[in-house]
Amino acid sequence: MNPFDLTGRLAVVTGARRGIGFAMAEALAAAGADIIGVSATIEPDSAIERRVTALGRAFKAIPADFNDPGAVARLAEALATEPVDILVNNAGTIRRAPAAEHSDAYWDEVLQVNLTSQFALTRAVGAAMLERGRGKIIFTASLLSFQGGINVPGYAAAKSGIAGLTRALANEWTARGVTVNAIAPGYIATDNTQALQDDPDRSRAILERIPAGRWGRPDDLAGATVFLASGASDYVSGTVIPVDGGWLGR
Ligand SMILES: NC(=O)c1ccc[n+]([C@@H]2O[C@H](COP(=O)([O-])OP(=O)(O)OC[C@H]3O[C@@H](n4cnc5c(N)ncnc54)[C@H](OP(=O)(O)O)[C@@H]3O)[C@@H](O)[C@H]2O)c1
Repeated sequence: MNPFDLTGRLAVVTGARRGIGFAMAEALAAAGADIIGVSATIEPDSAIERRVTALGRAFKAIPADFNDPGAVARLAEALATEPVDILVNNAGTIRRAPAAEHSDAYWDEVLQVNLTSQFALTRAVGAAMLERGRGKIIFTASLLSFQGGINVPGYAAAKSGIAGLTRALANEWTARGVTVNAIAPGYIATDNTQALQDDPDRSRAILERIPAGRWGRPDDLAGATVFLASGASDYVSGTVIPVDGGWLGR
């Protein structure tokens, strides 16, 4: 018996079109899961669809804009007919501006996409998991679930909220067969961190603090994702696992 085997499981991965979500969907498919990939702009025959089907698993794309509460409600409705075993709440956005100039528009969008919509979707999918008595929920948190960051107050507030939401849901749902955890990626080279990668001072300062001596890659998240989606983590719930090259221990 391989405790990490996901054969026959159905996983929903939000933000699966690129970056970290792409790598998470790929890892879950490689472990045996079929995938429903969600993102703002995903279309049929996307790169992640081609990757998952090349691994021999089924893939279905559902576009949904998490900045639109109506679209998230329609997504939840569409998923109500699917026997979702694993929900990976990974879609997320970031807006950078100093706190004193951080607009309501930035704040509202980041809180809506990164926190409110995450709760709305998880409430719906989680309720169906509770009825079946089984489920695995994984949020993508952040180092800013633990730290304040610079120029990203809305993002830090939302990701700190994700850590609290992870614990709150775990308290209610773990005894009913649904574990709820989060992964906190360190600094991963994706579109989300392009502004930092392009800033020589910030980029150097970040690299100097990472004990692993390099920025992370999306596939660095693969192991933790499969672990938290599988039976190997059945007694793990309500926790945020950093995958950060040692950053938080520094
Ligand atoms: N990169 C890092 O260092 C890092 C560190 C900690 C946490 N994170 C978190 O990791 C997650 C993935 O980020 P990433 O680095 O992979 O960034 P990314 O490359 O920018 O990808 C973001 C993904 O989220 C989707 N998304 C963004 N806004 C959306 C919206 N309004 N509605 C629906 N989907 C939306 C995007 O959809 P489209 O492709 O359709 O545009 C995309 O698939 C985010 O939650 C981010 O906060 C990243």
